[in-house]
Amino acid sequence: MNLDRNNRIGEVDERIYGSFIEHLGRAVYGGIYEPEHPLADEQGFRKDVVELVKELKVPIVRYPGGNMVSAYNWEDGVGPKESRPRRLELAWRTIETNEVGTNEFVDWAKKVHADVMMAVNLGTRGIDAARNLIEYTNHPGGTYWSDLRKSHGYEQPHNIKTWCLGNEMDGPWQVGHKTAYEYGRIAQETGKAMKLVDPSIELVACGSSNTGMPTFPEYEATVLDIAYNEVDYISLHQYYGNRTNDPANYLAKNMDMDHFIHSVIATCDYIKAKHRSKKTIMLSFDEWNVWYHSNEGDKEIEPWTVAPPQLEDVYNFEDALLVGSMLITLLNHADRVKMACMAQLVNVIAPIMTENHGRSWKQTIFYPYMHTSVFGRGIAIQRILSSPKYDSKDFTDVPYIDSASVLNQEEEELTIFLVNKHLEDSISLQADLRSFEGYRLIEHIVLENDDLKATNTVKEEKVFPHYNGHSTLQDGMLEVELAKTSWNVIRLKKSLE
Ligand code: AHR
Repeated sequence: MNLDRNNRIGEVDERIYGSFIEHLGRAVYGGIYEPEHPLADEQGFRKDVVELVKELKVPIVRYPGGNMVSAYNWEDGVGPKESRPRRLELAWRTIETNEVGTNEFVDWAKKVHADVMMAVNLGTRGIDAARNLIEYTNHPGGTYWSDLRKSHGYEQPHNIKTWCLGNEMDGPWQVGHKTAYEYGRIAQETGKAMKLVDPSIELVACGSSNTGMPTFPEYEATVLDIAYNEVDYISLHQYYGNRTNDPANYLAKNMDMDHFIHSVIATCDYIKAKHRSKKTIMLSFDEWNVWYHSNEGDKEIEPWTVAPPQLEDVYNFEDALLVGSMLITLLNHADRVKMACMAQLVNVIAPIMTENHGRSWKQTIFYPYMHTSVFGRGIAIQRILSSPKYDSKDFTDVPYIDSASVLNQEEEELTIFLVNKHLEDSISLQADLRSFEGYRLIEHIVLENDDLKATNTVKEEKVFPHYNGHSTLQDGMLEVELAKTSWNVIRLKKSLE
């Protein structure tokens, strides 16, 4: 492998380490919020969960959905809690109590030092509800909705900068599902009205819900053709699973993610050319993760209950490897992917789990997410990597090694993230780092486990990193031994001598 400090992909936008909290299952109720919990703060937020989220350094959190937002009345979640209505939540067929709404979520986001990425309902509602919501959250005062916010105890506007124009509107499961033309028009007009209220905001238009959608990528092309001037980002969503228990094929699935990103960039740039525009649409990969473990169990859940345990995937070690590879893929597209949200954050397909009234713990996928978020800030460096390859059921020429590198110029630190996907063998890697003169090796963190199916539960954490990775640096040449099926973080820093 060769890394040249002058060969840059682009600045890593820290928002690629974003996440997502939907009013779904126990993400909000029993996850971030549980007033009866011994560790709840004065607002009812669990302090143990706040601490775990802070460890992840999550810069932005998407809210309140997800599928849920497409039938959500934001007005139900503001004002005195005792007057908030209980509603049928149609996306997940539960009861929404509305105890937590916009203001409480903004307060929680401040506690974890994150910004809010707010989604508006373009399923059952539209321009009017969206322009009222942004007047409520962002207008300083002296108008109906901004004064209502003040009367609810929030004198200062929340100044939410990033807004999603609906969610997965291409999906037939979505309440208020729309064709590309129907959605393009409502996104355009809603975006226009929202930017009239607050011109400083940035808008994300819905792209496809996954690469398998029959309307991909025509949906993106049509939507952007209509709303190119109003929107700033196009969204991508993708979840993977290992339903056939084929680890080699499963671990290759970030190649599909890479192809998805390339295709959406090409689509954006085709519309840019068609419009003779100077503006470039950036990508917001605002839902990505592994999601399949809980699918069957969820079919047994009684409808119309409050905060049932939905989408509670228990992640294993191989999931952490694929999540690591997906993070590497995002980093290697740092020039165009400016936001991304691991979906989701607590209990619902999440790196953080909780027991109601009890403990909280880290799932296996917590670690690659934390490592990249903490160490992967700076400039993404282009790598020249020649890796041995394999073929799997759905992919050919899968590199055994995935890698991304980030240079933090202020700290004079270089971090190299590596996954070895080989199921049996370790791989020796030599990296030419001679352009990083004066750097020394400070740490080689490894996540490895002999059992691909090992999990972390409330009782036992079997998957956690160690700091005894095998690597040496001499005369700018890095020699690394990548253990079979492992996630590796190699950190170098310019020495003072
Ligand atoms: O994250 C779970 C669900 O996945 C979201 O509600 C939806 O947007 C997607 O289909």
